[in-house]
Amino acid sequence: MRNVTLEKLFVHPIVQKYVGRSGIAHAISVAEKAFYIAKDTDENPDLAAKAGFLHDIGHYKWYENGEWNFELYKENDIHAIKGAARAHKLLVRCGEDLQDAKAIALAILLHTDSYLPEGKLELSPLQQIVARADEADEEPGGAHHYRIIDYQPALERIKRLDIKIDNLNESKNLEHTS
Ligand SMILES: [Fe+2]
Repeated sequence: MRNVTLEKLFVHPIVQKYVGRSGIAHAISVAEKAFYIAKDTDENPDLAAKAGFLHDIGHYKWYENGEWNFELYKENDIHAIKGAARAHKLLVRCGEDLQDAKAIALAILLHTDSYLPEGKLELSPLQQIVARADEADEEPGGAHHYRIIDYQPALERIKRLDIKIDNLNESKNLEHTS
């Protein structure tokens, strides 16, 4: 059994506020994509889905006179840093295993290098999964942040993903014990 489900995170007011800011629909898509990549590559599907779901929880809205200012964002954004810290605090409060909370926070910290000085990063498999899932869901002009999904269908998708993670974990456990 997992300590913290995606559903528990989804209904949390902190998630509704901050993930809502950067787009619940995008967050769910990235969680689903991260789950499937983890499944195909034999990485931890629970950590991948959670990091995918929370990866943009640190976004700040760079508005100027009611309009998104991309230049302002590019110059000043640290959403991956804020997101890693915010997600970590939330996960620990919800009862996540501390090693898992750290792995998820690091995957969020490194899901983009847009805020980092030039250079090459050596990413772990989990960190690569979240970055790839995010890239796969991106739309030109940041449109992926504005896709809309209602609360109820969003919650249903999250619950389905929870079941998929549980089923996969269960089948992996059976493999180990047989
Ligand atoms: Fe994203």
